[in-house]
Amino acid sequence: MKKRFSFGQKRLLRAAAMLIAALWMSAVSAMADTKLMVVSDLHYLEPSLYRGSDYFLRALRRGDGKATQYGEELMAALYQTVLFERPDALIVTGDLTFNGEQLSHRALAEWFKSVEKEGIPVWVIPGNHDINIADPLGYGEGMVYRVDGTPPEVFAEVYADYLDTGDAGFSYVAKVSSDMWVAMTDVAIYRDVAVTPGLFSSRHAAWLEGVLKEAREEGVRVVTATHHGLLEHTELYRDSFVMYGSESMGALCGTYGVKLNLSGHLHIQHIAHRDGLNDAALGAFCMWPHRYAVVTLGEDGKLVYDAKALDLRFLPEGFADRSREWFAGITEDKARGGLSGTDEEIEMMAEYAARFNLAYFSGTYIKDDPSWTEDPAYALLKSQGNTPFIAYMALVMNEDPGDNLHLEIGE
Ligand SMILES: [Fe+2]
Repeated sequence: MKKRFSFGQKRLLRAAAMLIAALWMSAVSAMADTKLMVVSDLHYLEPSLYRGSDYFLRALRRGDGKATQYGEELMAALYQTVLFERPDALIVTGDLTFNGEQLSHRALAEWFKSVEKEGIPVWVIPGNHDINIADPLGYGEGMVYRVDGTPPEVFAEVYADYLDTGDAGFSYVAKVSSDMWVAMTDVAIYRDVAVTPGLFSSRHAAWLEGVLKEAREEGVRVVTATHHGLLEHTELYRDSFVMYGSESMGALCGTYGVKLNLSGHLHIQHIAHRDGLNDAALGAFCMWPHRYAVVTLGEDGKLVYDAKALDLRFLPEGFADRSREWFAGITEDKARGGLSGTDEEIEMMAEYAARFNLAYFSGTYIKDDPSWTEDPAYALLKSQGNTPFIAYMALVMNEDPGDNLHLEIGE
């Protein structure tokens, strides 16, 4: 027989149920992980600025491996990936556009709007290819033409919903959750015309110290984000890849217990470590294998960083092969130039050079894997003398063989 409750008892029961639900919800939210998704170096070029231009493809082919011609497919797949990952925020660490075209920025802002409509906040900082670029271009048939660039005030207007302005350029705090803030630190230099290096100045230091003090008082974990590197990653790319003033930022991180900086700029997936501080340089999204990272702050205070490749299921059939071939082809073209031997030998070496370069850039090169040195192409390459590629390989092979995809940091 069903037990019957009086009206008063029902109200009491309902109140008790609501209280239990509220307690459960607050316990869940107190225990909930904070999840960030990070992308960097989109180098997006609005398609009307290059569509149908073989001249653009030829120029890109002589470049550093960017697959900017696939921008539309990549952004569509990134949208699906963001919805799949459902982070608490999407963080973009600069080099949003190919070369500072205002049209590209406006198109990206629309894309960010579509992500925020799904309830996922987006936060951006500029890189060295975003503001006051000397020559933003569009590409036609056998020619280029100047297009509108992006001065700081236009950048501020276009991304008004996705950034904040402060005392140090576009440096601000993204308060992602009650447990975690991201100090979005704009170290790009663009007062007159943009230059490649970054700078963490005394103004940045005063701003960041204020943020870190406040976070300490509130008991909030801080992760910093910059476009340029905070630590030196590789001897290959030392100049202009680590920001000027990195010692000052590193010292503040040390004082206030910041253990993770999220950077880009290098285009190589690479994690550097020094005195308990980690600088995770994210591989460029515009290059195969189209990296993004997920950073999770768990209830146990552990920070976990995972670099991932864009999910193939969100890309057109055969896209990954085309994109990989594009990057490999660019490396092979560059390698062939300095090689001598039979056609067959040159092809062997060029293919090896591409495989090596792609493994390094994607963060999957394993130093201790003997197949790299046992490959006949390696001996052939070594016999070429001290070519730039051999020098590059030697530096990579001498690096610390750390894990460049995954990182775990305690409290
Ligand atoms: Fe870049």
